[in-house]
Amino acid sequence: MGPNYHYGYWENDADDSSIEVATDRLTDMMISGLAAQAGQRVLDVGCGIGHPALRLVRTSDVNVVGISVSHVQVAQANELAAAAGLADKATFQFTDAMDMSFPDDSFDAAWAFESMWHMPDRGQVLSEIARVLRPGGRLAIADVIERGPVSPEGRKVLDHVCENYAVKSLATIDEYRTALAANGFVDVEIRDISDNSCRTLAVMADAVETKRDELVALVGEEQATSLLAFMRLSAVTPEQGYLYLTAVRA
Ligand SMILES: C[S@@+](CC[C@H](N)C(=O)[O-])C[C@H]1O[C@@H](n2cnc3c(N)ncnc32)[C@H](O)[C@@H]1O
Repeated sequence: MGPNYHYGYWENDADDSSIEVATDRLTDMMISGLAAQAGQRVLDVGCGIGHPALRLVRTSDVNVVGISVSHVQVAQANELAAAAGLADKATFQFTDAMDMSFPDDSFDAAWAFESMWHMPDRGQVLSEIARVLRPGGRLAIADVIERGPVSPEGRKVLDHVCENYAVKSLATIDEYRTALAANGFVDVEIRDISDNSCRTLAVMADAVETKRDELVALVGEEQATSLLAFMRLSAVTPEQGYLYLTAVRA
């Protein structure tokens, strides 16, 4: 996956972009959806190792505060920022998005880049984001979602994703619409970009296949075979989708 811990975006089936290009392209969609102005303060909810945030800083000349519940990621993100000479523009800290310590109205914009599927309560996180965003502040979200109707085979794959990827449940587009409205977000624009992004799963399965021996050493032959089979199945399961949305805090 490289330094981006998120899906890629391919224009169409003929687009043969590498995973590095496709993941940066999705970051660029998030950057343009956020439309942050130079000097503004942006919250990155679930920052990974900070690669998307640093791309945002370079593109939009904003200040970013990234949060994660991984001490390792936070340390790596701060190291990456320092190495890029951007430590004064991008800082990363250990903070749970469910309960943020930031004051009300303290950010001009926020994004949650493929982090919402990990949250124990997405409504609680949206309420926290609404609290720390100033009125008129923009929000962008990219997330793995569930798409109905869900067949019994599809349910098995979705359950496998939840059990193995630290996911409590996958949201639906309807759930997002309701939760955003309930938390005071307006001008909501949602795109189902599953067809453009789900190739990521096949690319991941190919990558893991090349390290099959290491996987077997870690989890054993039977488990490795089962994990790889589910990855391949996920790639062709239409119930597992991907969403991109923007909204404005009223
Ligand atoms: C799939 S990674 C995406 C990372 C990054 N946004 C990117 O695109 O490279 C999910 C991120 O969400 C973070 N995360 C999960 N639960 C969280 C929580 N409760 N509060 C803050 N961050 C959380 C993880 O630590 C991880 O950094």
